[in-house]
Amino acid sequence: MKLEGKVAIVTGGARGNGLAIARCLAEEGAQIAVADICANMNTLPYDLSNEADMNEAVAGLQALGVRALGFRCDVRRRADVEALVEQVLAAFGRIDILVNNAGNSSMVAIAEMDEETWDEVLDTHLKGTYLCCRYVLPHMIAQHSGNVVSISSVGGQRGFGMGGHYCAAKHGIIGLNKSLAMEVADHNIRCNVVCPGTVWTPMMQGIAAYFGLEGEEGKEQFFAGHLIKDPEVAPEDIGRAVRWLVTDEARCITGNMITVDGGWTAKAP
Ligand SMILES: NC(=O)c1ccc[n+]([C@@H]2O[C@H](COP(=O)([O-])OP(=O)(O)OC[C@H]3O[C@@H](n4cnc5c(N)ncnc54)[C@H](O)[C@@H]3O)[C@@H](O)[C@H]2O)c1
Repeated sequence: MKLEGKVAIVTGGARGNGLAIARCLAEEGAQIAVADICANMNTLPYDLSNEADMNEAVAGLQALGVRALGFRCDVRRRADVEALVEQVLAAFGRIDILVNNAGNSSMVAIAEMDEETWDEVLDTHLKGTYLCCRYVLPHMIAQHSGNVVSISSVGGQRGFGMGGHYCAAKHGIIGLNKSLAMEVADHNIRCNVVCPGTVWTPMMQGIAAYFGLEGEEGKEQFFAGHLIKDPEVAPEDIGRAVRWLVTDEARCITGNMITVDGGWTAKAP
């Protein structure tokens, strides 16, 4: 077990990519703190996770034989993040891995976007990543070890029409990660990014449904850029990339990123 004795916080871990990341870490013995908002936001065209999702996620992780607990936390709120870190330390005694995965998106052109729509996306991805790092890193620095993985996107490497807020946040995460890596390398902490292509999670299904594209029709459109279409990128592919980055197999990798997109970014759009 490569992560035996390690404690991981996975934000947005109640479902989708976050839950798959949590499962992959648990399979290597890590104990898991799932942090999720368990509430909806005004400007999103789909529902976020709820308490039942969280409970099911935590029970599934416990069934893998590791200690797992759920924490309600809106990563946009400083008080929530501070409380999360305190509660995780009280329950588990340490934090070795932070996965900044919590995310959401709406699809609106900038010329029509109101401030709340911008804020709900930017504050979740970018401010949330800053806040979680801000309150977890002092503990990793004190223990002189740690791993941070932040989830960006293909949208952190190119633009998407109607996704200006999402792409701004995801580009921002890549820049933030490089600076973070410089700041904490001397403390034996590595910081990396994983950029998924399309993954058919509740977020993507919700966005596809917003455009009237359900099921296979939606999938066809949203996976169109992938060079490898079979198999499609699954949440477990994101989880395995995160897991590899936080093991010693990736011990010389920091300030960097892995793109899990079936080759989408390899060709000019
Ligand atoms: N699905 C894709 O195609 C895709 C592609 C690229 C990147 N990503 C990224 O992967 C990550 C996970 O997305 P997903 O596709 O699994 O979506 P999802 O909606 O299935 O899961 C996201 C989780 O984050 C939680 N969350 C949202 N806002 C939060 C907040 N402010 N505080 C705490 N929790 C919050 C939700 O409740 C949900 O449980 C996101 O960062 C997303 O941008 C997804």
